[in-house]
Amino acid sequence: MDTKRATATGVIVTVGPPSSVGDPPVNRAAVSTRLGAGAVPVDMVAAMPELIAPTARLHTAWLEAHAEWGPGVHEDGFGLLPSDEVDAPADFAAWVATRTDALDQSNPVAAGQVRCTYRWIVEGNRVLGGIALRHEGNDAVRWAGHIGYGIRPSARRRGLATWALGRILDQARVLGMDRVLIVCEADNVASAKTTERLGGLLEDVRDTEDGAARRYWIEFSGPST
Ligand SMILES: CC(C)(COP(=O)(O)OP(=O)(O)OC[C@H]1O[C@@H](n2cnc3c(N)ncnc32)[C@H](O)[C@@H]1OP(=O)(O)O)[C@@H](O)C(=O)NCCC(=O)NCCS
Repeated sequence: MDTKRATATGVIVTVGPPSSVGDPPVNRAAVSTRLGAGAVPVDMVAAMPELIAPTARLHTAWLEAHAEWGPGVHEDGFGLLPSDEVDAPADFAAWVATRTDALDQSNPVAAGQVRCTYRWIVEGNRVLGGIALRHEGNDAVRWAGHIGYGIRPSARRRGLATWALGRILDQARVLGMDRVLIVCEADNVASAKTTERLGGLLEDVRDTEDGAARRYWIEFSGPST
């Protein structure tokens, strides 16, 4: 049986039934809030998260998520540096452009950097998190891993990180990567579980200048499903 689906553009489309860990986690409450009573019967729609490229269109929503993380907190998955200016629309658009230009093969990659795919996890017009896939290995990747992700506090424990990691692993396969490294702090149970859920195999726990870190590898043995 098909279910109705609300997209980031507000269009309701029909999608197939959920089946496994690869399905996005549904948030019916979000749909009811966003569409308003009576617009579409609430029991006929399900808010579905999507992975989208960074966009200046969601400036207000992104700032709202940013505020929820709190000042000085590193927002994993967005590629946001403490020095980045994001409050004014023009500054935000310029920053977004740097995150999307990172994929453009015609743009040279700065020394010490690697090409990187940034995706935002959105639900309707809400920004719920970010995930980044670094394409190649350099010293920084060998230390920090290929993939970073973060979910805003109010959206955690809904399966979003698990779902988004599964989708970005599909992209890694498409890029021809054989395996990816994911590194998290040794006491980051949520990240460790997320990685293990997607098949991450613990290589070791290493001491780093930021403390002990768990290093997981996910190997690709077959075609994407
Ligand atoms: C790590 C993080 C991305 C997980 O996001 P999430 O959407 O809440 O994760 P999920 O809902 O997909 O849960 C994944 C697994 O972690 C478990 N989990 C999530 N939060 C947990 C917590 N606080 N304590 C224990 N387990 C937790 C879930 O139960 C699930 O395990 P299961 O599949 O065995 O049931 C999120 O906590 C976060 O953004 N943390 C701050 C940034 C960060 O640490 N990023 C990772 C850097 S490597």
